[in-house]
This record gives sequence, structure tokens and C-alpha cells, in this order.
Amino acid sequence: MGLQINKALVTGGAGFIGSHLVDALVQSGCAVTVLDSLTTGHVENLASVRDRVDFVQGDIRDDDALDRCMPGCDVVFHQAAVVSVTQTVQDPVTSARVNDLGTIQVLDAARRHGVRRVVLASSSAVYGDAPQLPKTESMIPAPMSPYAVQKLTNEYYAALYGRLYELEAVCLRYFNVYGPRQDPSSPYSGVISIFMSRALQAQAPVIHGDGNQTRDFVFVGDVVQANLLAATHADAPGRIFNVGTSQSVAINALWQSIAALAGVAVGVQYGNSRMGDILHSLSSIQRAREILGFQPEVRFEEGLRRTFDWYRQGR
Ligand code: NAD
Ligand code: UD1
Repeated sequence: MGLQINKALVTGGAGFIGSHLVDALVQSGCAVTVLDSLTTGHVENLASVRDRVDFVQGDIRDDDALDRCMPGCDVVFHQAAVVSVTQTVQDPVTSARVNDLGTIQVLDAARRHGVRRVVLASSSAVYGDAPQLPKTESMIPAPMSPYAVQKLTNEYYAALYGRLYELEAVCLRYFNVYGPRQDPSSPYSGVISIFMSRALQAQAPVIHGDGNQTRDFVFVGDVVQANLLAATHADAPGRIFNVGTSQSVAINALWQSIAALAGVAVGVQYGNSRMGDILHSLSSIQRAREILGFQPEVRFEEGLRRTFDWYRQGR
């Protein structure tokens, strides 16, 4: 893809999604700066490009760090966040400092430094439990957690920075992203990463609720493609796009698929539903398809296998 991005900043670039994005940008010949506090990210995620990126360990809430990273950037990909819904329920204040104020600081630094475009990682969580499926971008959001409110607030600020300061801003509502490098080590980690590490240890997973809740799981490589399209397409600025697959999988069925891959037969523990958890999540990606030409390429079975191989190799 001819990216026409000479220099980019990836906040949260040592994280799961951010590091895959960094790989793709470096591969395209773009100069890349990563700003990451390493709160949930790892420098090991950047191992293959470490000598080709400018890595700054710092916080998006630190204007000096932002001023160091922004000069000369055409595009900022803003991935840094407190990503766990549960964690934002438990600590709404700290998460708001990062997800709300930190995002405004990123947008404002981009404005000050004359950055052309900012692509923000938003979330399907903004839809909440609104009954209509699939979720389309024109639906009225119904956030059910501090996390979802924070992401929605980010979108409003992005639109505002577009109107007030002519900063090109694009918001991507990722559905549930999975793939290699997703860190399984916390109870708040993404469900696929947790289930895979459980299966590899032949341990029972904990399913919160009855396991009939569904998610639209999208492979990380497809999310990277959506970011690159959002950063380069002339019609993207000022818009919000869903990034998913338009297919959903129940959490019970997910465990069965992973147990089959691992060749284990262990029982399942059922626990209470999580506060702020949504029941069903399914994307319409018509807008991203029509405007950006986005098309997810990795089918769920294939993505699950590739991800499982990565965990099995213990990387
Ligand atoms: P991740 O935890 O792997 O990545 C987040 C990165 O941000 C980490 O490297 C972390 O160290 C860094 N970070 C956190 N706070 C920071 C701060 N104050 N300053 C600088 N860096 C900070 O998670 P991820 O899954 O890669 O998520 C990336 C983005 O995508 C997040 O904005 C998240 O909300 C969003 N998102 C993720 C999913 C998903 O399913 N994984 C779905 C929807 C949206
Ligand atoms: C995830 C992302 C969030 C993103 C959202 C988009 C993470 C950590 N969170 O939230 O950033 O905005 O998708 O839709 O990546 N579950 C279990 N057992 C477990 C873990 C989870 O049953 O051990 C269940 C949860 O209760 C939930 C489902 O699996 O119903 C998915 O959970 P999780 O992977 O944490 O994702 P979301 O909460 O959907």
C-alpha cells in the first residue's frame, strides 16, 4: 500500500494492537515514534523493529513527552488507553485521567504541532446493550461503563478538533480484537488470550455469566489495515467507522473451539456476570467497506489457529 505517511506517532505502540501497527508502518518505510508508558505494553512486542523505531517510554498525560514525539509527524495513531472495561468500572477516576484527559492532550499536542491527521482507537463498547443488531454507526450510543463513556467522549472531542482547528480526525470503533501478542496475564485481559493460556495449561476457564453472550472477534491484522486506510483515505476525516467482521461467536462456543485446538477436555467454571458487560455485540461494516474499501481478510477459524500457534510457541 502506498501510504504517503512519512512520519507517524503511535501512542500505545508497545501494546498488542499498537505494536502490529508499528510493524506495518515500519515495513512501509515510514519513520515511527512510539510513546508508551509500558503499563500494559511490553518492549518485547517491538523486538523485530526495535532498531528502526524511536521508542519513548512516557505517558500521554505528559505534555513534554508529547512535545518530544509530535514534531514532523503527518499522522498520530492514538492507541494508548486503559483498555479493560472492568478496570474502568473499578477505578473510573484514574481511567478517565488516561482515557479522557490523556486523549485531549494527544489531540491538542497534534494541533499545536500541525499534525495532519489523528486516528483514534474507539470501541464498540459505546453501543452498549442497545437491542438493534448489527450495530451501525448511526445508532444512538448507550454506554454502560466508564470505559464506553470515555471512548464516546474521545469521539466527540475528535469531531470538535476537526471543526474548531481543522485537525483531520478519524475514529475507529474496534469490536473485539484478538491475535498474537495479546497479553493474557491479567484477569482483565482479552478473553481469547485468557482462554488460550488456560487451554494450554489444561485449566478450566471462568466464564462470566451463562456464556451465551456474543462478541464480534476481529483479527489484529485486519485492524491494522483499517488504521492504514483511515490514515490515508481522503474521505475518512470527520467520520466514525466500525471495525469488525459482521460475525459473532458466543463465549461458550469460543471456549469449545479453543479447547478443541488444544486437544483438552476440561470443565468450565461459571461465575457472575461482570458489571458493565454487554450481552451481544455484532458489527455492520458497511460504512468502512463503502468509504474506505475495508474488507477483513482473516476468517475466525484461521485467526484463532494463528493466534493459538503463537501462544503454543510460548512467545
Ligand atoms: P494494550 O493494553 O495492549 O495496549 C495499550 C497500550 O497503551 C499499552 O502498551 C500500554 O502500556 C499503553 N498505555 C496505557 N496507558 C498509557 C499512558 N497513560 N500513556 C502511554 N501509554 C499508555 O491494549 P490493546 O488491546 O492493544 O488496545 C489498544 C487500543 O484499542 C486501546 O485504545 C483500546 O481501548 C482499543 N480497543 C481495543 C480493543 C480490543 O479488543 N483489544 C477493542 C476496542 C478498542
Ligand atoms: C473488549 C476490550 C475492550 C474493547 C471491547 C470492544 C480487552 C481487555 N477489552 O472488551 O477494550 O473496547 O472489547 O468490544 O481487550 N469473559 C469470560 N471469561 C474471561 C474473560 C472474559 O467469560 O476469563 C467474557 C466477558 O465477561 C465478556 C467477554 O468474555 O462477556 C469478552 O470479554 P473481554 O475480552 O474482556 O472483552 P470486552 O469486555 O468485550
